[in-house]
This record gives sequence, structure tokens and C-alpha cells, in this order.
Amino acid sequence: MYEWTEKLAVGVETIDSQHRELFSAINSLLRDEGSASPEEIPALILFLEGYVVNHFGMEETYMRRYTYPAYPVHKNAHVSFINDFYDLRDEFDAQGPTPEIAGKMGRFIGDWLVNHIGVVDMALGNFLRMKGGKL
Ligand SMILES: [Fe+2]
Repeated sequence: MYEWTEKLAVGVETIDSQHRELFSAINSLLRDEGSASPEEIPALILFLEGYVVNHFGMEETYMRRYTYPAYPVHKNAHVSFINDFYDLRDEFDAQGPTPEIAGKMGRFIGDWLVNHIGVVDMALGNFLRMKGGKL
């Protein structure tokens, strides 16, 4: 299970609240890993996919809005994550909604997110707070 703590706060509430939402969706996916009934898995994966894409879009809008110098690097990190996510989705489409694939996807997204928030989003948060814009 993944826990959002203050250590992962980037200091911009819209971003932080979406991160918390993502953690909770990932945990739902991981809960299904241990259960014998995988019927919720496709909907959870679909939800996560949409939520992640929308969340990245919001961060990228902020970056462009405030002419963030590290925008290309941050954007690349998002694109490469989405590519890896789609590779896993292909696996999921081929294998069906097994508890194993739910666990694999949940941990992949969770581990990536913890690392990305701690470094890349944290830098963005610092920049945005410095800009002091209305977010
Ligand atoms: Fe990000």
C-alpha cells in the first residue's frame, strides 16, 4: 500500500490533492491483487489511466503558464511514463484482468509516482510557490 504523507507535499493544493487521489486508486488496485475477484480491475485501470493523463495535463498547463524552465524534462518524464504504462496495458489486454497484473500495475504506478513526486514534482512545486500565482 502507498501512503501519501506531508513529506510528499509539493505545496500546491491542486497538485497535492490529485496525488492523494492517485494513491488511493493505486491502493484499490493493490487490494484487488489479494482478492480472488478481479471484476473491479478493468474499471480501476481505466480510471487510473484517465486520471493520470488528466493530472499530467494540469501540471503541464501550469508549467507553460509560468514558463517553467524545466518543462521539457518534466514533460519527457510524463511521456515516458505513459509509454511504459501502455506497455503494461498491452499485457493486461492480452492476459485479462488477473490479480497479478493488478499488482504489477499498481506497484509500477505507485513506485514511479513516489519517486517522481519526491524529485520532479517537488521542484515544480517550489517553482510555482515562488511564482506565487493563482493555481
Ligand atoms: Fe509531474
